[in-house]
Amino acid sequence: MIERLLYFKIQKRLFKGKAITLFGPRQAGKSTLIESLLKNNDHLYLNGDEADVREMLYNTTSARLKAIAGSMEKRKLVFHQHS
Ligand SMILES: Nc1ncnc2c1ncn2[C@@H]1O[C@H](COP(=O)(O)OP(=O)(O)OP(=O)(O)O)[C@@H](O)[C@H]1O
Ligand SMILES: [Mg+2]
Repeated sequence: MIERLLYFKIQKRLFKGKAITLFGPRQAGKSTLIESLLKNNDHLYLNGDEADVREMLYNTTSARLKAIAGSMEKRKLVFHQHS
């Protein structure tokens, strides 16, 4: 595995109460980088490439959002991917 400087840059910025957006061309190594960052932290992974996840997030109700927020409790990271 090639070490990525971006790994350390993102790691330094985690847990500051901010969202971090990672974007880039196809096959640039985004998913691999994110997986390495999530690996050691309890996280919620929301894959927006899956239709049911998209539906849950984009066409939602306050009750559904509360249910999602409930499943975030105690988790340190929430990751949402979409194309
Ligand atoms: N740090 C790395 N060192 C070596 N190979 C890597 C590294 N990061 C990713 N790769 C390889 O590059 C390929 C693409 O990686 P990855 O799937 O993470 O990219 P991606 O940006 O998420 O792609 P997509 O846009 O298709 O979702 C994979 O074969 C992966 O194993
Ligand atoms: Mg990917």
